[in-house]
Amino acid sequence: MKVRKAVIPAAGLGTRVLPASKAVPKEMLNIVDKPAIQYIVEEAAAAGIEDILIITNRGKGVIEDHFDHSYELEDKLSKNPSKKKIYDDVLYCSNIANIYFVRQKETKGLGHAIMCAKNFVGDEPFAILYGDDVIINNEYPVTKQLVDAYDKTGKGIVGVKEVAREDVPKYCSLDVTPFTEDGKLMSVHQIIEKPKPEQIMSCFSILGRVVAPPQVFDYLAEDLANTPEGEELYFTDTLARLGREDNLLALDFDGIRYDMGNKLGIMKANCEVALAHDEIGEDFKAYIKELAAKL
Ligand code: UTP
Repeated sequence: MKVRKAVIPAAGLGTRVLPASKAVPKEMLNIVDKPAIQYIVEEAAAAGIEDILIITNRGKGVIEDHFDHSYELEDKLSKNPSKKKIYDDVLYCSNIANIYFVRQKETKGLGHAIMCAKNFVGDEPFAILYGDDVIINNEYPVTKQLVDAYDKTGKGIVGVKEVAREDVPKYCSLDVTPFTEDGKLMSVHQIIEKPKPEQIMSCFSILGRVVAPPQVFDYLAEDLANTPEGEELYFTDTLARLGREDNLLALDFDGIRYDMGNKLGIMKANCEVALAHDEIGEDFKAYIKELAAKL
């Protein structure tokens, strides 16, 4: 069955980027001239996905506003021929895809957030794009890479990259063996969330993109029932279960990933995207050179 739907969990509290994320959701923090979540919605749409559910939370209503019409603004811009480009850009925000919203009423972890998508997804495979992970590959968007791998194999797919060994405990560690000859696609046997250094099985970590079969909702429901009060439900544990059933592959994707959930990630994203930007790229490069010469 084709992957037609995507879910973007964006209900987290963003404590690592406070106070910036106090009134502005971290998913709405800019990369040059677009909020992070717009890059993510565009990536899903570029994979041929038309229906996208964004999981939000209290105080995240501006995400809905961003993908809605802004009539006064559109009216003003449409009457000014010199603003044609910016008018098109503003109008485009409300036309990228069919975007739906649901609130995660309590911040109980990524697994719990994904559970909020159960009725939207129904009985079909779906893509998950974490709301604070922007991954850029304009030629072959990473969600499309995962969807293509799913189409070929019919197994759940997690997008992975090798991270520095000292960073693995911040993410998760995967026990993998090659599935294809080139090793880009791997069978996943086990996953440990936030491993201790001695538990690291490989430096491959899941970074922000998954294609999941619908049975994850059954697993999540069981895991949720067993999660002690006050503890978060990790999605990794559910994925690990798919792995143990020989139903999960990891794709070493091609793309540059920016973690918009931490301060350094936000600065790297802004610098690199600005350097490649049509309008300001050249001027920004000159500025960076000037700045670097002073360091
Ligand atoms: P993170 O763990 O990176 O986000 O979750 P967080 O909880 O906002 O981060 P910190 O540690 O407080 O800074 C990855 C993605 O899952 C979403 C987040 O919004 C983020 O996009 N998420 C996380 C939810 O939707 N609900 C949750 O309960 C937790």
